[in-house]
Amino acid sequence: MFPRKPSLRSAVEPFIAMDVLSAAAKLESEGRNIVHMEVGQPGAPAPAGVLEAARLALQDGRLGYTEALGVRALRQRIARHYGDAYGIDLDPERVAVTTGSSAGFMLAFLGVFDAGARIAMAAPGYPAYRNILSVLGLEAVEIPVGPDTHWVLTPDHLRRAHRETPLSGLLIASPANPTGTMTSPEELEALIVTCNELGIRFISDEIYHGLDFAGRAETALKFSDEAIVINSFSKYYCMTGWRIGWMVLPEYLVRPMECLAQSLYISVPDLSQRAAIAAFDCTPELEAIKAGYARNRALLLERMPKLGFEAIPPADGAFYVYASVARFTNDSTSFARRMLEEGGVAATPGADFDPARGHLTMRFSFAGAEEAMQEGLSRLERWLA
Ligand SMILES: Cc1ncc(COP(=O)(O)O)c(C=O)c1O
Repeated sequence: MFPRKPSLRSAVEPFIAMDVLSAAAKLESEGRNIVHMEVGQPGAPAPAGVLEAARLALQDGRLGYTEALGVRALRQRIARHYGDAYGIDLDPERVAVTTGSSAGFMLAFLGVFDAGARIAMAAPGYPAYRNILSVLGLEAVEIPVGPDTHWVLTPDHLRRAHRETPLSGLLIASPANPTGTMTSPEELEALIVTCNELGIRFISDEIYHGLDFAGRAETALKFSDEAIVINSFSKYYCMTGWRIGWMVLPEYLVRPMECLAQSLYISVPDLSQRAAIAAFDCTPELEAIKAGYARNRALLLERMPKLGFEAIPPADGAFYVYASVARFTNDSTSFARRMLEEGGVAATPGADFDPARGHLTMRFSFAGAEEAMQEGLSRLERWLA
């Protein structure tokens, strides 16, 4: 008889935001009303142009496998976006469409790192990075960041970690999840130059581009053709459930990634690809949604400190407020559970983002509707009273 237990490498920590989502859904199925501030997903549906393109694709009748790297029209449209948004002339051959950026990480990590490689990232940071690396036999090197460097990784951090035990990669997100902080173009360039000097691969998670409230985010491609850039239609484009994203790769990685994608996923859903082509032409609608986030952001940044949520990083981009809950608890996980069950507000405990310090923090997403944010704050006020 085989041992009735899962493999050792599948033993990753839960993605707690998703667990909170499940707990909230269970309460909702029992008739409770919950304000959702736990997962980072827009309250708005995909823009009208995307929905129309999807309708047309459905009427067309046939949805099939596509080329593993994505339909050519979409790869071309993504390449054109780099010209429009960043002034970069990008060869569409370097674009690979993926099943959300999540699949992009899987492909990128598999495609460039061998087992045992060490990849640096900021803590707090997005939890799935560490879990994906771990199932692939790679090591996440989490470097604590804080207010002294406005919550971003610096070349000094990198040099120090590399001196201790050599690194193979650096992964950053700007705007970042959960802090919302941004790495400035100068800081980004300095990190890339340091990586090149030390022989460390640079991976740039640009999923929150477009969602900036204090200065534009620059793409890593501006400073290096060697960087691996990962992006998605999930956040700015409001398409989480369509599961579609993309990577921009150095030329020599395109064919290996294609072979991996062929066998791992065959292709990205055809419907989502055809619809996503229209997303880049929906800017007025998407900017109106972003203006709603800006109002939510102002509301939360004004009200949350008054409620006792402290030490909030700048939240210059993305749609999160990451706050200290030290005033209330030293166990944010049970605090979040009570907030959900007693207060009717779902939010994510910091342990998801920072295993070492997250027991004192929580993340609140303000990507929902403005009325929902108002209601969430009123509930928190009542619950904490
Ligand atoms: C920083 C970051 N990267 C990647 C993802 C994954 O998104 P998706 O797979 O929907 O593109 C998320 C989702 O919340 C995220 O916050």
